[in-house]
Amino acid sequence: MIIAKTVKEVREQVNEWRKQGLTVGLVPTMGYLHEGHASLVDRAVAECDKVVASDFLNPTQFGPGEDLESYPRDFEHDCELLEAHGCDMVFYPSVDEMYPDGNGKTDTYVEILDDMPKQLCGKTRPIHFRGVCTVVSKLFNIVVPDKAFFGQKDAQQLAIIKRMVRDLSYGIEIVGCPIIREEDGLAKS
Ligand code: PAF
Repeated sequence: MIIAKTVKEVREQVNEWRKQGLTVGLVPTMGYLHEGHASLVDRAVAECDKVVASDFLNPTQFGPGEDLESYPRDFEHDCELLEAHGCDMVFYPSVDEMYPDGNGKTDTYVEILDDMPKQLCGKTRPIHFRGVCTVVSKLFNIVVPDKAFFGQKDAQQLAIIKRMVRDLSYGIEIVGCPIIREEDGLAKS
């Protein structure tokens, strides 16, 4: 599995695959992967010739006091899981690679301005969906996948991403994948 840390490396590799006529699937993640993520990779592997997973803890979707600093990370384990499930490339950028202004700041956001995000958990996390849309939009522009795979567990996020794809005319199919549960029925998270 290729580990790419820069936008340039991802673009060069995806261009190479495109020249060979291969389709590309994207599985966006924030790392600390579990069986739920593995099921997204499995689906992407089944539906696309090549699969890219992103592993990026995105600061713009966390508000003050929302535990960005204590979010768990284990890149080594993430790579093992991704490779075991047939992922071809993991994009593991630094914060500065994704947000060149530094410190995870940007002046350019993608935001759905109607009431949809405000009615959802955006009520209590006002900048969350703006950060999600911004980073997912950036990932779409970097990887330019044919399909992108998201869990139905985050149903609000899935609805918002589908809306963004429609509104911004992205030619990307959004595939919502079933929830994977613990033995006691709790959704894996
Ligand atoms: O669902 C997640 O893990 C994140 O919100 C996503 C889609 C990877 C964007 O950072």
